[in-house]
Parts: sequence; structure tokens; C-alpha cells
Amino acid sequence: MQHTLCYIRKQKEILSSSNLEDLFQFVVKTNTTLNISDVLLHNNNFFLQVLEGDKDSIQDLFANIRRDQRHHELLLILNQKVENRIFNNYEATFSVLKSKEDIERLNNYLSTNSFKDKYSENIKTLIEPFLL
Ligand SMILES: Cc1cc2nc3c(=O)[nH]c(=O)nc-3n(C[C@H](O)[C@H](O)[C@H](O)COP(=O)(O)O)c2cc1C
Repeated sequence: MQHTLCYIRKQKEILSSSNLEDLFQFVVKTNTTLNISDVLLHNNNFFLQVLEGDKDSIQDLFANIRRDQRHHELLLILNQKVENRIFNNYEATFSVLKSKEDIERLNNYLSTNSFKDKYSENIKTLIEPFLL
């Protein structure tokens, strides 16, 4: 059994594009090492992140993320067991979604890959505002 956690968070201050790029690269590298699948979306000063993996790894990582001073007002949306990860087959380069096209690609991925359970449906609903 795997665990997933999803949150929305508001940035404290506007991050420059190079700071964002550094963060994105760090996330991709660290999560690959930790065997955590994730997607991180950024739009209009908001981050949405879905993390999937072994429960202890997810909770340790989330404790770190919570302490991060770069953002505040965290809203935890999902924190639950899941049968299967959605994003373990998702290409590593997609794990950080920067453009509308990236988000559309994620939406298509969720629509075409026979994810019919409640968890996948919830994720699709959550990314919808980021598609606008
Ligand atoms: C929106 C956001 C998402 C983040 N996501 C991750 C992540 O998925 N994995 C990760 O290792 N660090 C992530 N970080 C960075 C962590 O908050 C933290 O800086 C990093 O884990 C290093 O923590 P440490 O200095 O206490 O070791 C994220 C930071 C932000 C602002």
C-alpha cells in the first residue's frame, strides 16, 4: 500500500523565475532519489503538489516542506492510503508543471490512462483551476 498527500500553498513572496527553476530542479532530483512520485504545479503565487510513495518517506518530506519559509497558508487536501500511484509512470520531466501545456498534458494523461478511481478523479478536479 502506498500513501499520497496533496496540498495547496500560497507563496509568501514572488519567487524570481531563477529561484523557481532552482526549486523545480531540486524537487525533481530529490524526489527521484527518495523514490517519491510527485507533480508540482505553480500558478499565480500558488503551488499545488501531489506526493506519492512510502508513507514514512512522504511524511518526513512533508514535515520539511511545512517548515519551508518560502510559503505559508498551507491547505492539506489529501492525506490517505492509495492502492497504486498515479504518477510513477509519469515522465520525470513532467513532474514539475510550468506552463498551461504541461497542465493540459497532465489532464490528458489522467483522462486517457484509465484512472477511474475516486483518487484520480479528485486529482483531476484539483488541477482544473490551474488549467484556466
Ligand atoms: C512549493 C514547494 C514544494 C517543495 N517540494 C519539495 C519536494 O517535493 N521534495 C523536496 O525534497 N523538497 C521540496 N521542497 C523543498 C523543501 O521545502 C525543503 O527546502 C527541502 O526539502 C530541504 O529541506 P532541508 O533543508 O530541511 O533538508 C519544496 C519547497 C516548496 C516551496
